Amino acid sequence: MIHARLTGSGSYLPEKVLTNHDLEAMVDTSHEWIMARTGIAERRIAAENEFTCDLAERASREALTAAGIGPADIDLVVVATTTADQVFPSTACLLQERLGISGSPAFDVQAVCAGFIFAMDIANRFIRTGGARRALVVGAETFSRIIDWTDRGTCILFGDGGGAVVLEADETPGILSTHLHSDGRYKDLLCVPTGVSRNYEAVQSGSAFTTMAGSEVFRWAVTAMSDLVAETLAANDMTKDDVDWLIPHQANVRIINAVGRRAGFPSDKVIVTVDHHGNTSAASVPLALDESIRAGKIRTGDTVLMEGFGGGFTWGSVLLKL
Ligand code: ACO
Repeated sequence: MIHARLTGSGSYLPEKVLTNHDLEAMVDTSHEWIMARTGIAERRIAAENEFTCDLAERASREALTAAGIGPADIDLVVVATTTADQVFPSTACLLQERLGISGSPAFDVQAVCAGFIFAMDIANRFIRTGGARRALVVGAETFSRIIDWTDRGTCILFGDGGGAVVLEADETPGILSTHLHSDGRYKDLLCVPTGVSRNYEAVQSGSAFTTMAGSEVFRWAVTAMSDLVAETLAANDMTKDDVDWLIPHQANVRIINAVGRRAGFPSDKVIVTVDHHGNTSAASVPLALDESIRAGKIRTGDTVLMEGFGGGFTWGSVLLKL
């Protein structure tokens, strides 16, 4: 039986730090309010000439180095992003060209903040069915480009960044299970209500921004991500004690704490990076994973439960043995 094993991870954050104090000068808010309601102290913002593919490339090169392989060894590229460089080709194709890979499939996945989890599920299926042996899976976003920086209800939450992992075919797992869900009935609660085919004028005038029903999203995120823990554990005949680390989507410290509490995880087993990354959408989980691996917190042999939740709604989990 072939399994997908994670053999390397990498990440990249743009240089520019945007603190809550910086935001105080932009909208009617305060560091204290943002800390109390979100736990976010700062986030990174891509430079004007820096695009999603740039962040993806930096993270990917680090992941390849960590895996001890070169770009030519990769036979599948999946990029999760909501903020593609171009309408087409996909950011995955742009990334493939940057890395000097050609021939093997490369495509984007759009599941907003659950995108990386969806991308991992897809790459896992490719590897398990023999369609690929070494996959590069990336979550990268320049979410700052679809934020209204005059809207204090949303602009305090988001940031930019990229994370990547290499998955390789192996006889031992690896990815133990994946669980994906979507429900389009909630499409209006968290969205950019404009695009290429609809209201393109908003894109042209630079006002294609994220809108959000904050408290509904909050409640949904907590319920969906705590239910996902139960679903994932049951599918693997495990208890929470069999899991070393929980990495929920990094949206808000209060959401993360509520998920941890409801799922029965002590806070020292729940990874939190949203305090200094903000919500980086599809990049949030791979950024948190890579930072924790590099800090020596998450180690080889650990069992890690990763979860995403985003617009759609979309939500999902990956249970992984490192
Ligand atoms: N600074 C100061 N006051 C603010 C700010 C701000 N930045 N934003 C809102 N307020 C005000 C509101 O206007 C409101 O004032 P009012 O009572 O006079 O009307 C008051 O603060 C309370 O607002 P609420 O929206 O009730 O505050 P809440 O505690 O719900 O926190 C927040 C708002 C932080 C947005 C919260 O709802 C949240 O985190 N929701 C989830 C958002 C999220 O994570 N979305 C993304 C997840 S999925 C994905 O990643 C795509």
